[in-house]
Amino acid sequence: MAYAAFRSIGAYVPEKILTNEDLSVMVDTTDEWITKRTGIKERHIAAKDEYTSDLGVKAAQKAIERSGVALEDIDMIITATISPDYFCMPSTATIISTKLGLKNVTAFDISAACTGFVYILSIAKAFIESGMKKNILIIGAEKLSAITDYTDRGTCILFGDGAGAAMICATEDKSEAIIDVHTGADGEYADLLMTPNGGSGSAHDTLGQEASSCFMQMKGNETFKVAVRTLTKDVKEILADNDIASDDIIHFVPHQANYRIIKAVGDALKLREEQVVLTVGKFGNTSGASIPMAINDIYESGKLKKGELMLLDAFGGGLTWGSALVPFSPNN
Ligand code: UT7
Repeated sequence: MAYAAFRSIGAYVPEKILTNEDLSVMVDTTDEWITKRTGIKERHIAAKDEYTSDLGVKAAQKAIERSGVALEDIDMIITATISPDYFCMPSTATIISTKLGLKNVTAFDISAACTGFVYILSIAKAFIESGMKKNILIIGAEKLSAITDYTDRGTCILFGDGAGAAMICATEDKSEAIIDVHTGADGEYADLLMTPNGGSGSAHDTLGQEASSCFMQMKGNETFKVAVRTLTKDVKEILADNDIASDDIIHFVPHQANYRIIKAVGDALKLREEQVVLTVGKFGNTSGASIPMAINDIYESGKLKKGELMLLDAFGGGLTWGSALVPFSPNN
């Protein structure tokens, strides 16, 4: 039987930094409020002519190089994004595949908001275990600044741009394999976090209007409460299902939405500070890109070693949620 191994990681953030001080000139907020309520100090913002696919390509190039997989051996590419280059079509994954020079790949995007990376991890795992594909490039890439309302202090302080990518490859060695991935969704909470305009549900109202009608809207405080509840339940379930104790987790890599959410979930699992990966302070919330960017952060700082077990945990618009137990399994 084929198993799916998490072989490599890569990430990219655009050059420009938007600080809390910058935002306090744009809306009625302060560095103190943002830091205390979210843990965010700054976020990166893509240039006008830098698209989500460009961020994804740069992250993917690092993941491919670190995996040692030849370009011609990549047989699938999946992108998780809520800020694609173009709404509807073409998919950002197809644009990335062409920019990378990939031929003969299956390429598509999925929309699961901040849970996107966990969703594409589960899809890659299933394709590999079924024997249909061998080397799958998964990418979380977001240019959230393109769908953020910079007059709304409830959302514009949170989001940033960036991308993270991983190579998921077939292996016969079970000790290298992704152990489990859980995914879930509940459309009853759709109105907590959404881009209400721009789709077929509102086309008659918005055709020909400004792009500003497609900005994200969030009921922040309600989302916060559901996030803590859902994330905690989800990680407890995946640990219990696989008979793994929270002490066995070397790196807890949660979606980076808000320091207070991460702290509440970490405390509920009785995790020690050194187990919890935190990048929200320097990148903000980058939705589907946040988990691979955080994994890349511990990889590049030398903290992530071969064989170490990661617990991923995400929550986002939809609502969607997901968790995964993933040993880091590079070739060398
Ligand atoms: O990634 C997907 C999932 N997303 C999340 O999980 C995000 C979840 N939500 C959050 O992170 C938090 O709810 C926020 C950071 C968005 C807001 O923090 P909060 O502690 O829930 O604040 P709140 O919305 O309850 O607002 C408290 C007060 C309000 O003023 P009053 O009514 O008490 O006078 C807000 O108007 O803070 C005010 N406020 C602000 N003040 C300064 C809201 N935003 C700001 C701001 N600066 N940026």
